[in-house]
Amino acid sequence: MPMETANMFNPASKVSKISHCSSMEQYKQMHDKSLKDPEAFWGEITKEFHFEEKVKGKFLDYNFDITKGKIFVRWLEGAKTNICYNCLDRHVLAGKGDQVAFYWEGNDPADAEVVTYGELLKDVCRVANVLKAKGVAKGDRVAIYMPMVKHLVVAMLAVARIGAVHSIVFGGYSADSLADRMMDAQASVLITADAVWRGPKLIALKEIADDALKLCSAKDLKVKMNLVVQHMNKVTAPQPASNGTAANGNVAKKTHFDDKVNWDPSVDVWWHEALSTVSSECDPVWMDTEDPLFMLYTSGSTGKPKGVQHTIGGYMLYTATTFKYSFDYHQGDVYFCTADIGWITGHSYVTYGPLLNGATSVLFEGVPTYPHTGRFWEIIEKYKVSKFYTAPTAIRALMKFGDEPVKKYDLSSLAVLGSVGEPINPEAWLWYYRVVGDSNVSIVDTFWQTETGGHVITPLPGATPCKPGSACFPFFGVDVALLDEEGREIKGEGEGYLVFCRPWPGMMRTVYGNHERFETTYFKKFPGFYCTGDGARRDSDGYIWVTGRIDDMLNVSGHLLSTAQVESSLVEHPSVAEAAAVARPHSIKGECLYCFVTLTEGNSFEDKLIAELKNKVRSKIGAFASPDFIQLAPGLPKTRSGKIMRRVLRKIAVGDKDFGDISTLADPSIVEKLFELRPKESKK
Ligand code: PRX
Repeated sequence: MPMETANMFNPASKVSKISHCSSMEQYKQMHDKSLKDPEAFWGEITKEFHFEEKVKGKFLDYNFDITKGKIFVRWLEGAKTNICYNCLDRHVLAGKGDQVAFYWEGNDPADAEVVTYGELLKDVCRVANVLKAKGVAKGDRVAIYMPMVKHLVVAMLAVARIGAVHSIVFGGYSADSLADRMMDAQASVLITADAVWRGPKLIALKEIADDALKLCSAKDLKVKMNLVVQHMNKVTAPQPASNGTAANGNVAKKTHFDDKVNWDPSVDVWWHEALSTVSSECDPVWMDTEDPLFMLYTSGSTGKPKGVQHTIGGYMLYTATTFKYSFDYHQGDVYFCTADIGWITGHSYVTYGPLLNGATSVLFEGVPTYPHTGRFWEIIEKYKVSKFYTAPTAIRALMKFGDEPVKKYDLSSLAVLGSVGEPINPEAWLWYYRVVGDSNVSIVDTFWQTETGGHVITPLPGATPCKPGSACFPFFGVDVALLDEEGREIKGEGEGYLVFCRPWPGMMRTVYGNHERFETTYFKKFPGFYCTGDGARRDSDGYIWVTGRIDDMLNVSGHLLSTAQVESSLVEHPSVAEAAAVARPHSIKGECLYCFVTLTEGNSFEDKLIAELKNKVRSKIGAFASPDFIQLAPGLPKTRSGKIMRRVLRKIAVGDKDFGDISTLADPSIVEKLFELRPKESKK
């Protein structure tokens, strides 16, 4: 072990003593083997899972070089399996039916439920039977728009059990976003819930889903069934009953939940009624390992979200293995990931990774600050959580309240603390380590993407000495390189484009319905490499420091957004002629949106318009995308060829006059004008 210094922290000894990988030597050995002989490395891991048929073709076959033909990645050719069987039946058959899969913790601390593996399996089979009775078959797409309840896990596994493909849309997205995603996927069924409380706010999911279904039917997408979980009659309303405000992008027609949901008997079916009439047994459909498992939409730089498609076999091996090693999971641990299943972190590390390992997890419906700012810590104490996984934005938000809300609770069960979603600043890392972890934990800063399926650069908690702010080293099977603008590899110390040189099992296989977009987005810039879209630096000790996006994407509270997507929402407003959005650093969210709008003739820039514009973005995308700043732009800084010089806008957004060379602008005087028009609140 190196000497521990203010910038280098050794793994907690209570973790390394028992860990699956307990030294850097062991890590290097395993990593080398995973690259030199992927078949031997991953082949050994396949033995832990049930494959109905073994690999018949090549263990791994791929092309990463677009100049040589179509990009493809295939693992475990010819093998057949079912991921739901591996998540549930395998454990139940091994006698673990009574083991707790989830401790469900509601938005209100009074609401809690324990769910075992055996119970999950029965419900999954029931839902699978309901779907089959509606004609849902292998390859069909099922959209899911739900709160963080066990039914969401049940729904996704039921879809996987029958070989259909799930497309989960985060419950904070608006009706427009849900409809866009359902239409792109041509989903034939939707699964939702009546509504949910998120903190004190009401999210009227069914109402939003109804609006989305109307939009779908206007575009000729016929949805066969909207399966609705009745949730609100089982949960405690916020005290005092605030009746909430709309937390989603839509301005809710209803902020009071009165038990009456609109009902269209031609499509709506209550979950509990449908489940009461079907069998609790359902054979799994044996699938090819390269059949699709799910698609999950993520922002693209063109503004149109991409359906990132993952397949069954490789994703299964990868989420299971990363979960086991990155969190050093052991039987007896209680694991708590705060991410919503609507994002990739929830797919891989609330549902699939933990269940594949037969783990016991906390499934949390609420928010970190409701009904008080110690909610996470209270839950950790209540369930004696040993492995905890959250986002830097949550850590920073909670840091604001000081140490006291943390210190009120006994957090001595904690052993590994994870971070994901954006670079974690050293100050937040240290607070997480010292205050939450009492300087007796290992921290894992896990770098990955919706596209990578699982962790690709991460410390291992029993092995890696950590530097706060660095995601450290590649996971098994991951071959990292840094490239300069010309595509030359930067060896040793240096900074460049973060790319991967070969496929790992959990990587995406295509963009749903648009393979060309997959090839162009990730493989065109540097033939032979998967390009992450992030920049990174390698220090003299070989540690990787991810520095952030180098494309027109921004990361708000760990959620990727494209500036194009926001701009196209803004220009839908009749008063807006043109818009440009850029990222501005934010002390809690990491980054926030700063938008410039040029108005059409005859409109004035007033508070009412600003509010309307913010609402426009909320309703087109979702509340989390709402801009923090909107400023008037009589013109935008464009080059003579009409390209907006965004680096200048980014400078204006932070009040920095060091614009660099602006001589190529068609009208350089616009820069000074824009600087003067900055809104007052942006100057704080
Ligand atoms: O920019 C990187 C950042 O989040 C992006 C991926 O976003 P998304 O697909 O929404 O998935 C988020 C959850 C996996 C990356 O391209 N990012 C994620 N984790 C880290 C990170 N940046 C730095 N360090 C991290 N640990």
